[in-house]
Amino acid sequence: MEELMRSKHIFTIATVILVISMRSNGHEDIIVNTQSGNVRGLRITSKISNFYAFLSIPYAKPPVGDLRFKIYFVNHSHRNPLSLGMKCMTEQKKVYPALSIPLTLMGMLGYLNLDIEEAPGNMGLMDVIEALKWIQKNIGYFGGDPTNITLGGLSSGGIMTHALMLSPRSAGLFHKVIIQSGTSLGYRFYHEDASKAINKLKETINMDSSSNHEVLTYLRALSIPDIIEITKSIKERYHDGYAQYYPFVITNDFDSKAEGPVLPKHPLDIIRSNNYTHMPMIIGYTSNEGIRLEPYMNILDFVNSNFHIVVPTDLFDIDDMSEQKMETARTIKRFYFGNKDLSNETFAEYANMCRDSWYAHITDYPIRLQGYSNYTRPIYYYIFGIDGAYNYQKIKDGYTSLGASHADDLGYMWHTDLFANTEPQDDFSDIARERMVKMWSNFVKQGYVFKK
Ligand SMILES: *[C@@H]1O[C@H](CO)[C@@H](O)[C@H](O)[C@H]1NC(C)=O
Ligand SMILES: *[C@@H]1O[C@H](CO)[C@@H](O)[C@H](O)[C@H]1NC(C)=O
Ligand SMILES: *[C@@H]1O[C@H](CO)[C@@H](O)[C@H](O)[C@H]1NC(C)=O
Ligand SMILES: *[C@@H]1O[C@H](CO)[C@@H](O)[C@H](O)[C@H]1NC(C)=O
Ligand SMILES: *[C@@H]1O[C@H](CO)[C@@H](O)[C@H](O)[C@H]1NC(C)=O
Repeated sequence: MEELMRSKHIFTIATVILVISMRSNGHEDIIVNTQSGNVRGLRITSKISNFYAFLSIPYAKPPVGDLRFKIYFVNHSHRNPLSLGMKCMTEQKKVYPALSIPLTLMGMLGYLNLDIEEAPGNMGLMDVIEALKWIQKNIGYFGGDPTNITLGGLSSGGIMTHALMLSPRSAGLFHKVIIQSGTSLGYRFYHEDASKAINKLKETINMDSSSNHEVLTYLRALSIPDIIEITKSIKERYHDGYAQYYPFVITNDFDSKAEGPVLPKHPLDIIRSNNYTHMPMIIGYTSNEGIRLEPYMNILDFVNSNFHIVVPTDLFDIDDMSEQKMETARTIKRFYFGNKDLSNETFAEYANMCRDSWYAHITDYPIRLQGYSNYTRPIYYYIFGIDGAYNYQKIKDGYTSLGASHADDLGYMWHTDLFANTEPQDDFSDIARERMVKMWSNFVKQGYVFKK
């Protein structure tokens, strides 16, 4: 078990949420007068582009004291939200205001749901909603168009973008979405029933018989490092040897009645009811998302002899040991491995299984449902399979498997230090990057990927 614990960092999630508003007259001013006062743009220069970064915009109250767990606020003053610099902006002559919010999906401060108004869950999503409201009121001062906002993200950023697209609370705040490698249907990052995580939290802090309000009082008095420690303990305690357990993720949040919940029901039920804003979407995943598991081949023997742990927990509970669950596990194993066992030799099959379970299915299924319900706006559904000079994650972490890993598409959209001295490369990689940037920026500008 000790050995398995060491693989608990398998699923680090990269988050990029990006909000882009169109139409700009190429403002070069360094001070912008907004409804919340003057904000100063820091001039950022990089090899590829120059732009202004506006940090610490006061769009929400800081969540301190009694507001902890009730609202969420990212303190941007010690980071640089535009530090990546968007490659596609550099390809264009005009200036497009872009806001990037680096967020992580997991964590108690952003997602604790105690089923009470003071800790309702989904605070991290509410935080983005507040930022989007600020953008509605103020993006015009930066030369942007508040009726033409694109919201996009990758991995947990994709999960959040997808949840916000379905949320009645964010209706009208953005008009196009880009969802890469993650949707709100992923069973590991969306919990329909928050009470299970509440119980695990109570067990971990030895407050089994306390009320949720007592738990809140206890947690509010702790320091931030203590809160992070508790989250780590829960994750270690409930790690099943295969996939990290995340206790604090997107949930059906508490309905305080004032504004209604962020997610009134299961995201799938919202899609089925067809009661949400249809908008143009780019959505997809990479061909070999699962090869990011390469560094964790040491768990394959364990998974092989405990195969039931791969069955998604939204089908059967984590502790369920029923014959029905075991039969499901055997069916999955036959489908991906035939009569073979999991081992280094069948890693490719294992990676395919993880890609399908964690990314492909949760992307493909809602798109099909949207198709059946006569979705009224274009859906650009992609599978990114480029294996070239800019595959971000793969090159960064040294994976040797063929294909495009999770987050490999980033290197074809953004300028990063990793590739600072890597260009120009072979024609294939450079053409791929040019096309990717072209398609994505066409979408942001015109709402379609290919020029009409
Ligand atoms: C944000 O971070 C800065 C720098 O770490 C700190 O000075 C400031 O007090 C923080 N603001 C809030 C609201 O926490
Ligand atoms: C659509 O969703 C909104 C927000 O949740 C709700 O108020 C409304 O009643 C729903 N409409 C229908 C027809 O279900
Ligand atoms: C399988 O891969 C793991 C991790 O790379 C390594 O420790 C182990 O020795 C390999 N086993 C075999 C049989 O090659
Ligand atoms: C979609 O449109 C078709 C043809 O107009 C119609 O028959 C069908 O009932 C619609 N489906 C839904 C779910 O509205
Ligand atoms: C957004 O801007 C583009 C380019 O100006 C335009 O073609 C498109 O119609 C706009 N979309 C909306 C929803 O206004």
